Amino acid sequence: MYGIQLIWHGHACFEIRASFNVLIDPFFRGNPKAKLVPEDLEPDIILVTHGHYDHLGDTIEIAQKTGCRVITVHELANYLKSQNVMAEGMNIGGKMKVNDMLVVMTDANHSSSVSHGELRLYAGRAAGFILQVNGCSIYHAGDTGLFTDMRLIGDVYRPDVALLPIGGRYTMDPEDAARAVAFIRPNIAIPMHYNTFDVISQDPLDFVHKVRDLCGTEVLIMNIGDVLDL
Ligand code: NI
Ligand code: MN
Repeated sequence: MYGIQLIWHGHACFEIRASFNVLIDPFFRGNPKAKLVPEDLEPDIILVTHGHYDHLGDTIEIAQKTGCRVITVHELANYLKSQNVMAEGMNIGGKMKVNDMLVVMTDANHSSSVSHGELRLYAGRAAGFILQVNGCSIYHAGDTGLFTDMRLIGDVYRPDVALLPIGGRYTMDPEDAARAVAFIRPNIAIPMHYNTFDVISQDPLDFVHKVRDLCGTEVLIMNIGDVLDL
């Protein structure tokens, strides 16, 4: 056991509790499935995979209230700085040591922009993250289609846990996410980014069955608010 907790807050939002709290893609307001409001969260660090509203979410509000650090891709970090957020930029393939945690920004096959009033601003590349803390390796894929370099991510970072979108349409569906599991070979695969809205409705058991057929990796279906001890 690594002495860390992984909590799913719905959609692509996960919290990691170690000696400090990390919040990834905090999307509460406007998320019909959210069980919390931004005021409930007290992260030390927020990580944002890309600028779309269902990932950037309530980052600005939470960061302004708590004064936490926000780490994201360079262009989005610059935007957040202009909104009085303590943001720090990095880019694909880059690594950062944050407290005791190693943060690696990975590729994601997706787009990114940020809404500013009526404008849509360029927000750099969409990304995923490898997070290594207390010896535990977690891969948050962000929004992405399937890509073969997931095999490289598996080889190099040997994730204990892979958090993978299965909603389809904007990301991988259960079938492609199962192929991703076969590439990454984590100990546990956890589906995310499905059933938040009608357009991404999926049966997570479909993912379970497809993974079983392909590689036999353990799949854990989390309910929103569930805590996984790692
Ligand atoms: Ni997106
Ligand atoms: Mn999304």
